[in-house]
Amino acid sequence: MARREVIVVENLTKKFEKIVAVNKVSFKVFKGEIFGFLGPNGAGKTTTINMLITLMKPTAGEAWINGYSILREPSMVRKSIGVVFQDSTVDRYLTGWENMWIHGVAYGVPRRELKNKITRLLRFVELEEYGNIQVKNYSGGMIRRLEIARGLLHEPEILFLDEPTLGLDPQTRAKIWDYILDLKKKSGMTIFLTTHYMDEAEKLCDRIAIIDHGRILAIGSPEELKNVIGRDVVYVKVKEDAVPAKVLAEKIIEDGLALEFNIVSGNTLSFIVEDAYRFIPKVFDVANSLKTIILEVKYSKPTLNDVFLHLTGRELRREEGDWKDTVRTRIRMRFRRRTL
Ligand SMILES: Nc1ncnc2c1ncn2[C@@H]1O[C@H](COP(=O)(O)OP(=O)(O)O)[C@@H](O)[C@H]1O
Ligand SMILES: [Mg+2]
Repeated sequence: MARREVIVVENLTKKFEKIVAVNKVSFKVFKGEIFGFLGPNGAGKTTTINMLITLMKPTAGEAWINGYSILREPSMVRKSIGVVFQDSTVDRYLTGWENMWIHGVAYGVPRRELKNKITRLLRFVELEEYGNIQVKNYSGGMIRRLEIARGLLHEPEILFLDEPTLGLDPQTRAKIWDYILDLKKKSGMTIFLTTHYMDEAEKLCDRIAIIDHGRILAIGSPEELKNVIGRDVVYVKVKEDAVPAKVLAEKIIEDGLALEFNIVSGNTLSFIVEDAYRFIPKVFDVANSLKTIILEVKYSKPTLNDVFLHLTGRELRREEGDWKDTVRTRIRMRFRRRTL
């Protein structure tokens, strides 16, 4: 049986005055899938969600959610979806239970069912005992869990989660990941989430769209995306004095030892190579010939960070802090792939 398409997006575009926040984005999400938008701050993730959940009108393009057009059937779209926003939207002066109740009534959940549903969902996110406490006394993680429970109350076909674990501690993040995976397993719900955490995308998503500056750069399963690189990634850290890292990198490329390099930070380079075992000894030879001292060599199979670096020349994980710096110092050389 063909997989059912529950989200279909065609050339979705949103322009604000000066910038194109979302630029001709097209993709499909199938029933029961966890589909993720992975990209740095400002990539256009929230803007895409806002259009899909009918909070914002697109400048161009169209999308269908559960078969309903976001342009022509917004109320049917809204009935089909649950949403957990990036910024908290619960009422802090109400209890967890009251927040759930108001949402249930607003969505027309029959009153006779509402009580049981709230109890069941608060249990699902392990907040049963806290239902009668005002939300202002909750931790950030508890609020997120309450919002997930609330988003599920009207039994939506599709759940939208915008940065579900933003700013949470590692333990709480792991818990929220468990709820999301459990939801997929037990209810077969379709989930669309955004994140700028690669580990989150990798752990949760069946398929990922990598988004940057409003454009989708690649779509695929985590494995498929990493196979785009397909080779080994070797990180080389050199001593900072004397010969700059870039000189070493250029010599290595010139000698045909690596396919591509990126400068990860001032003195750390990453190389995409055919075979790390053969490459590493040669790096030391080249370094010796240039009188460069290598402090550290690491190699791994490609990660999603390497995929992002390969596609954009920037690291995803450094975006938070000094991304401008990263862009400025970005030096990237690509050589024609012989075998790709
Ligand atoms: N209401 C708005 N008016 C003007 N610019 C906006 C507005 N909302 C978002 N933007 C801009 O659009 C781009 C994408 O933002 P956003 O969708 O929030 O990205 P993300 O969620 O990936 O961090 C950013 O450059 C942001 O500054
Ligand atoms: Mg956002």
